[in-house]
Amino acid sequence: MKKILFVTSEAHPLIKTGGLADVSGSLPKALAELSQDIKLILPNYQALKIHEKARFLCSIRVDNRNVNILETHIPGSSVTVWLVDYPVYYNYPGNPYVDEQGQPWPINAERFALFCRIAVEAAMDRIHQGWKPDIVHCNDWQSGLVPALLSLEQDPPATVFTIHNMAYQGLFPGRTAAALNLPGKLWNPAGLEFHEMLSFIKGGLIYADYITTVSPTYALEIQTAEFGYGLEGLLEHRKEFLGGIINGIDLDQWSPETDPYIFQNFTVETLDKKSLNKAELQKKFGLPVNERIPLLGLIGRLVEQKGIDLILESLPEMVALNMQFVLLGSGDKEFEKQLQQLADLYPDKIALNIGYDEALAHVIEAGADVFLMPSRFEPCGLNQMYSQRYGTIPIVRKTGGLADTVVDALPETLANHTATGIVFNEASSSCLLEAIKRALILYSYSDTWKKMQTNAMKMNFSWQRSAEQYLALYEKIK
Ligand code: ADP
Ligand code: GLC
Repeated sequence: MKKILFVTSEAHPLIKTGGLADVSGSLPKALAELSQDIKLILPNYQALKIHEKARFLCSIRVDNRNVNILETHIPGSSVTVWLVDYPVYYNYPGNPYVDEQGQPWPINAERFALFCRIAVEAAMDRIHQGWKPDIVHCNDWQSGLVPALLSLEQDPPATVFTIHNMAYQGLFPGRTAAALNLPGKLWNPAGLEFHEMLSFIKGGLIYADYITTVSPTYALEIQTAEFGYGLEGLLEHRKEFLGGIINGIDLDQWSPETDPYIFQNFTVETLDKKSLNKAELQKKFGLPVNERIPLLGLIGRLVEQKGIDLILESLPEMVALNMQFVLLGSGDKEFEKQLQQLADLYPDKIALNIGYDEALAHVIEAGADVFLMPSRFEPCGLNQMYSQRYGTIPIVRKTGGLADTVVDALPETLANHTATGIVFNEASSSCLLEAIKRALILYSYSDTWKKMQTNAMKMNFSWQRSAEQYLALYEKIK
């Protein structure tokens, strides 16, 4: 049995901005089910949805600050969560990283540096709990200083750093390193310095014993200039200690058999009932209720990563096809505005919900026929897996985890019953449109479509398999 400290800046259902939260809320549970002793550490944001009162665990003085550590659990599980409580840094409402205009909070470097320092104190058991982890598993830049600081300790735990997204690196002006009082030993180009900037992510990439990313394909992609943002050389250099482990999905939350958010539960055997969810979805979005019109859905952060520009370019041509399109998302204000303009022009074809709505995300997964995910890059992606579970055929671009989890409908994959979606190569609206047209043709052959839905619903995306791979890795490095 390993003792694991899982360092993360979000975890569902406590706090979520994207897929990192889904992973941090479910991978630790899957590891606990494999009898591992795992605890999470997270900042005590005001916006946390705590179901039980967190209890005071201890106080610690770090970098001239008195910080409390509180203890709670991942709701609905026995997995312990330690909350780093420092109100000046964490006790304000809203998103953990950005303000209402989408601008990073001005003291993010200070906030996440303190978080990392406390994680190090916990990792070295200087918080006196009689619990020193074997493994510290860090996630994304917010935890990047942890492997760096631990590298300066005597007898530190082994460290894993998981990259969920290379596009977010935690870059700050170089002078921040001094302001944060970081050990001088770490401040050089072979350390935390990146073109005279302070790079949090480099702390993970350089000092962690092992680096993982959330799909095998993305692990290769980030070693190239297109996806590596200038860090591809470093990643290539460390490739012996870099691997991809695909994310799983939380089947307690994402299963059409039991999902409490959806109008009508269904299974592979009762797939016909899915159409009731489609009618509900059309009603909810004010679209004509018609079972025969293919309904395309999209849920996600409205940012360039997700190929929203390709959707915007394609929509004027999509509306000429026999289809409807629903979108749930928020992000870039310009994308939101342009999408809204198109929805106003074609109210019978396009309907939007600009916002964040957990329940509605389930309703869309259950009711749509097709799910669009034309990402420019996608470290793993969860929605294409949720879609498959709900018999909603994903259209994805061949990148990262999308390439690893969707089987393109080709003559041979249709014949051998492995096809689960539509995969296209080039990030262009013409290729996206072509993929949509392919989907609509397949949709018109209802037996073929049903077979694809069945193949998709039977895919095994359980966390157990991925958790076993993490465990094998922990055993290898400690
Ligand atoms: P990323 O982490 O890059 O945003 P993922 O596909 O890994 O992408 O995970 C996104 C998660 O966030 C999914 O669980 C998705 O359903 C959810 N999500 C994204 N946007 C919204 C939204 N507007 N409303 C509800 N859920 C959302
Ligand atoms: C990131 C990625 C996404 C991935 C998620 C969870 O936010 O953008 O592709 O699924 O992390 O690992």
